[in-house]
Parts: sequence; structure tokens; C-alpha cells
Amino acid sequence: MEIKYIEKVAQMNSGKNLKYAIFTMGCQLNENDSERICGMLEEMNYKKAEKVGDANIVVFNTCCVRENAEDRLFGKLGEMKRLKEAKGTIIAIGGCMMQEKVMVEKINNSYPYVDVIFGTHTLHKLPEDIYRVLINSKRVEDIIDIDGEIIEGFPIKRNDNIKASVTIMNGCNNFCTYCIVPYVRGRERSRNPQDIIDEVQDLANKGYKEITLLGQNVNSYLVSKKINQENISYNVVISNKNNVGNCNNQNYESIKEKECERLTVNSFATLLRAINRIDGIERIRFISPHPKDFTDDVIDAIRDCDKVCKLIHLPLQSGSTEILNKMNRKYTKEQYLNLAKKIKEKIPEVAFSTDIIVGFPGETEEDFEDTIDVVNQVKFEQIFMFIYSIRIGTPAEKMENQVLETIKHERFDRLKKLYEELVAERNKEYVSTVQKILVEGKSKTNSNVLTGRTESNKVINFEGSDELIGKVIKLKIVSEHMWYLKGEKI
Ligand code: 5AD
Ligand code: SF4
Repeated sequence: MEIKYIEKVAQMNSGKNLKYAIFTMGCQLNENDSERICGMLEEMNYKKAEKVGDANIVVFNTCCVRENAEDRLFGKLGEMKRLKEAKGTIIAIGGCMMQEKVMVEKINNSYPYVDVIFGTHTLHKLPEDIYRVLINSKRVEDIIDIDGEIIEGFPIKRNDNIKASVTIMNGCNNFCTYCIVPYVRGRERSRNPQDIIDEVQDLANKGYKEITLLGQNVNSYLVSKKINQENISYNVVISNKNNVGNCNNQNYESIKEKECERLTVNSFATLLRAINRIDGIERIRFISPHPKDFTDDVIDAIRDCDKVCKLIHLPLQSGSTEILNKMNRKYTKEQYLNLAKKIKEKIPEVAFSTDIIVGFPGETEEDFEDTIDVVNQVKFEQIFMFIYSIRIGTPAEKMENQVLETIKHERFDRLKKLYEELVAERNKEYVSTVQKILVEGKSKTNSNVLTGRTESNKVINFEGSDELIGKVIKLKIVSEHMWYLKGEKI
């Protein structure tokens, strides 16, 4: 990272009371990137604006996984013209959508007042791009197609002080036929385990309680490295005593043996086990794994690690073997169901969440009923439902038998109805049980009410005092409402 550009811009901005605004339009990886963008902006002497109109720089961190993100971006960009004319606000656009040539062309042709266009592989160069705009007042386009390296040491401004996400790998090698991600995020690159552990340890020292490990395909963590360099394994060091300083490899020898722990990390399962050893962290989540890579060692690690939440996100996408084949998902309906069954046998308290796409090209009524069947069998705790949208440049774009919009929406509504029935059914089962919840803060709608989540990600509201924020406590569930439950202290 170009620290020198951060410093140069910081000097130019010093004493000017400049403000920034950011629009984050995508998934949790995109949000994590936004936290890094905010970290860099703050080091460059920009402060967060209360409202967009006050901003001297506006950054859009875009997503291109589904169609509706584009409409949102272009709507907002239109609004920026007035701001640019009124006060010369710098407009920067980055993220996945900027890796698509058609999108960059569209911005070049229709939105000439955009100052910086940066891609997913050049995030760390944003300070240099801003510097160049400030010096030359010329538009900067900074996009590369080759996979960016993993950059460590980003400044980061986190949105929350209890829950944090930690990216463990970038990119995807799977090429599901509907998905644009492998084209805009490049091939899989895994972070070095010690860097991940140091980041989590630092978060634990700052009081964070819940960590979500992020990657497009987390359970193939380190796999592509193994293919290139056989039998890769790392000795990592965990220091659980805040007072002994950082037990990294350089100064490890000088620190008393008993205060540090050495473990070997050579896979996602061993990474989970290592992170589970870090004091202070109470909960570990991860998204997203791919069912085809859900090996037994990962299941065993989830079972054995007390901090790993027993809610597993297992993206189904479709319940029809034929559609799964056309999607290039590399598993059948039966293999998915068997995997869910195997996990449930090893971890009886487990719950599942999932992603489902309705209306993939060629999806018949029968195929859709297979999806409904899997939903009924697995009884997902949470379903993220998507209507298939064509992504230009993916194999599915060219497939025949695209499903009519009316049919897609009708199927979506049926799935939604079933999901709501399942949620209502599950909610009833929670009533009168005792649940462990991590208290996340005050409710947005009522400041006398605190809110938190169960391991299974259910929102629980209850009355309690502020000192409970950040603690894991037990509550009795007293009533159910569609999207939250009410709890009482016991
Ligand atoms: N259309 C609809 N949904 C999609 N997803 C990915 N690509 C598409 C698409 N073209 C969904 C998948 C994925 C989630 C992040 O977004 O369900 O798991
Ligand atoms: Fe897209 Fe499939 Fe990779 Fe997920 S696993 S990012 S759906 S290609």
C-alpha cells in the first residue's frame, strides 16, 4: 500500500475540515472493502459527513452480482451531478461493477463528472488516485484485469464495535454459470494464516466478540495454494495474554513458551480450530462455504469448536439436479441432502441457512418443486432468495429457455410464502426456551429495548441496561413476532 500517498493527501487536506460519504452496495465482502476505504479516507483527513450534501468526496462501492444494483447506482450517480456543480465534490466509483468493461464505458459516456474509477484489484491505490485528481483535476481510471495480490496493513474504520468481519480469501475458481464473481474478483487467493490470526487477536484485544470469516468460497481456503505448492502448512502463533505483546514469529522466542501457543494451519478446518483458541472472541461465523468442498474435517471442526456458531450457511441455489448441473454446482439434490443429513448427525443442534435462485434458464415447474422439496426437508432457519438475473459474459446469459419474468416472480412469491410459514413454525419452537444471545446494542426503534442475536442468527429484543451490550447472556423467550422474538432476563 502506498502510505506515502495517504500522507501526501492528508497534508493537502490538513485543516480544511473535509468530509466523505460512502455508498456500499454489495455483499459482506464489499462492506469489508468499504471499511478499508473509510480507513484510508480518514487517514487522509476526511471525516464522515452527516449527510451526502456535506461531502467533499463521495465513494460508491459497487456490486454486480444481481441486476438491481445497477439501477441503484445509476439513480444515485444522477443525483451527484448537482453536488459536483455546487461544490466540486470528488466522485469515485469502485468495486465489482467497475471490473465490467460495459459499465466503465457507460460511466465514461454518460457520467463525465465522475473523477475516479477503481476496480477490485486496485482498492489499495485509492489514495494515489485521489492524489492525482487533486493535483491534475483530471479523471483517473485505475482498473487491472489480473488478480491483485493480497495487500496487508490497510487502515480500517469498522462500522461496529462488537461484530467484525475478516476476509480470509479473495476470488473464486468455481464458475457457477449464472455468476459474474469469478470474472470480477479473479482467482482464489488465500491470506496467510498468521495475518488472519493477528487481525482476529487485535479485534479481540479491542473488545470485539463476534468474528465473521469472509470469502467467496471459504472452505477452499488454502486449497489453491496447495495445488501450486504441495502440502502447504503454516506454523501460527497465538498469544492470549494481552500483557506479553504480540507473539509473532520474530519475537516469539523471547516470549515465555506457556503464554503463546503454536498450531499448524493447513486448511479451513485448522484455521477454524486456531481462531477458536483466541481469548475474548465469543462467536465465530463464516460465509460462504460451497457444499462440494464441505469435507469431514470442516464438519468435525465446527462440532469441536465451542465458539463456532452452529448455524451453517449452505448455499443450495436450486433443488433440481438438472438445474444444478446447468449451474455447474458440482453436486446433485441427493448429495446436498446427504450432506445436510451427515452434518446434522454429527452436530444435532445445527441449523442451516441458504441462498436460492429462482427462474434459472430452463427451470421447469418440476425443477422448482425439487427446490421446494429440499426447503421442506432441510427446514432452513434463513433463506436468502434471489430472482435469476442475466449477467453479461456468463455462460447462462447464452442459455436458451430463459424463464418468463411473470413465472419467475410467481415462483419467488411461492417460495417466500413457504419460507414465511417455516419461520413462523420455527418461531413457535423458540417460545419458552432459554437462548444464549450476544447483546449487540439498543433497538433502533426503542431506546429502552436492547437487541441481540442467538447463535442461529435470530433477532431477540428485551429490556435491559446498557452494560449488557457486548455480553453473551441467557434469556427466556417469551413471545414471537415474524422477524424477531421477545426475551426476558432470567
Ligand atoms: N441472479 C440471481 N442471483 C444470483 N446470485 C449470484 N448470481 C446471481 C444471478 N445472476 C445469488 C446466488 C449467490 C448470491 C450471493 O447471489 O444465490 O449465492
Ligand atoms: Fe459465484 Fe459460484 Fe463462486 Fe459463489 S461459488 S462466487 S456463486 S461462482
